[in-house]
Amino acid sequence: MSTTIRDLRSFKERGERFIMLTAYDFPTASILDQAGVPAILVGDSLANNVLGYDTTLPVTMDEMLHHTRAVVRGSRNALIVGDMPFLSYQTSVEDGIRNAGRFLKEGGAHAVKLEGPMLELTEALVERGIPVMGHLGLTPQSVHAMGGYRVQGRTDEDARRLLDDAQALDKTGIFALVLEGVPAPLARKITEAVSSPTIGIGAGPHCDGQVLVLTDLLGLNEGTYPKFAKPYADLRTEITRAVTAFRDDVASGAFPDDAHSYH
Ligand code: KIV
Repeated sequence: MSTTIRDLRSFKERGERFIMLTAYDFPTASILDQAGVPAILVGDSLANNVLGYDTTLPVTMDEMLHHTRAVVRGSRNALIVGDMPFLSYQTSVEDGIRNAGRFLKEGGAHAVKLEGPMLELTEALVERGIPVMGHLGLTPQSVHAMGGYRVQGRTDEDARRLLDDAQALDKTGIFALVLEGVPAPLARKITEAVSSPTIGIGAGPHCDGQVLVLTDLLGLNEGTYPKFAKPYADLRTEITRAVTAFRDDVASGAFPDDAHSYH
């Protein structure tokens, strides 16, 4: 049975904590889907986690759609959310509607995610039957405006503004809200104040669900991980081990052996 936006709301109503993960390609999407991950986000983190950019800003609509289609082909049951890239929706409501529509029409996604309190656009999308996931707090597309990747909502005034934005977005009809880089007590307050399920990343344990970037979860990245990211595997070491074992076997003549050759 495929996950729908209504299921995420039911999770919240039942107090059932759930997960979302990012995916960017066919094989990982099919692994996540078969593992029962209810929601997959084709994040614009594609830019820095897969395409080698420094930030999420350069990734384009065409790149996002290309990867969204691969993820959709790899999954049968998960709810697929396409992440609208920088400047695909900030320019005008019309651009936002057109590009969100492309995620569903050309990408095969079931919903889109937008950063910031884009109230007019969100309302317009919901009215047109395009489900929207909100995203507040540390919004990476505003990295330069925030002066870096900083936890948001630390002062009383910022916390109040974030709570107001969350409630205003909730009223527009979003089906879920990502809270990123927000102090845990504030994330709890927002979670209790909105009817949409909140999905936290660096927002403490009180959100209705949690999301991680897949490359962080799998330990694929080079160097250190952000405080909020927990690598549940060390695939970078495992891949290095496999690649060097192959190189050594070829150098020594151990591969290909009889079992891996045609006669
Ligand atoms: O692009 C992304 O991976 C995201 C998550 C961090 C929520 O927006």
